[in-house]
Amino acid sequence: MPEIAYVDGEFMELSEARVSVEDRGFQFGDGVYEVVRCYRGTPFALEEHLGRLERSAAGIELPLPEDARRLGELAVEALHRSGISESVLYMQVTRGWAPRNHAFPETVKPTLVITVRPAKPAPPDRTVLGVPVITVPDERWLRCDIKSTDLLPNVIAKEKARRAGALEAIMIRDGAYVTEGASTNVFAVKDGTIHTAPEGPRILSGITRSIVLRLAREKGMSIVEDFFTPGFLAGADEVFITSTTLEVVPCVKVDGRPVGDGKPGPVARALASAYSAEVARRIGQPPQAEVRGLMPHG
Ligand SMILES: Cc1ncc(COP(=O)(O)O)c(C=O)c1O
Repeated sequence: MPEIAYVDGEFMELSEARVSVEDRGFQFGDGVYEVVRCYRGTPFALEEHLGRLERSAAGIELPLPEDARRLGELAVEALHRSGISESVLYMQVTRGWAPRNHAFPETVKPTLVITVRPAKPAPPDRTVLGVPVITVPDERWLRCDIKSTDLLPNVIAKEKARRAGALEAIMIRDGAYVTEGASTNVFAVKDGTIHTAPEGPRILSGITRSIVLRLAREKGMSIVEDFFTPGFLAGADEVFITSTTLEVVPCVKVDGRPVGDGKPGPVARALASAYSAEVARRIGQPPQAEVRGLMPHG
């Protein structure tokens, strides 16, 4: 099955896709993007992702080259052309190409790129075993609600995690409070209450985050959307992270120290399961609990 790209009006194999070296995405990270997980050939939460793309673009005064409805059609066409069933759909819009100059070009012709690639299968026992994470300083700008392609601090944070043998780097702003992961939102559970940073300029408002919070509310779980300290994180009964591609992942070690009893806790596991069922419900397929490693062994 071919990996597909769409660049400014044309579909092609991903390996053939090119943009100019003068593209402002390349020169300045002057663009916005979305990542959508597709299950069995169907994009999950596409509308929510397109809504966020519109907000991100508006946040940097970037006119989208197509409206959300047309972007959705192009995304679905890319998916169909690729024929890949379990895939990751990537959409990026930059402020186009122009001779290098920081200020916006006088006439902007945004560059639109869409790609479809196979989703990397998660280790089947990830939800059962949990993952280690580390903490790092949050060195990003103060418009983290904009899903900008300018990801250098996130890239560096993720590389620190990789070198430490951890899956994610949880970012701490000003040494004082937890914001989010390099590419995930972060949740800490204490005495049965779920804590997570509030929406606003200091985090990316995750699509998975909002779905998981809704599922938690439906289960009657108590939720506090407020910042919490690194100390609170270290003393949490459970920690978990969410994202489009990772879904819901329990974290069992923070900076080498066990979280709670060092095993995925009941809240994270219940929400991982509920998320999986929500995907199945929206995609219209039965839950694949065994495949996703959500069933307890024995
Ligand atoms: C910084 C950051 N926070 C949170 C998320 C999770 O967002 P979503 O659930 O929409 O994938 C991402 C996703 O890439 C991210 O980059």
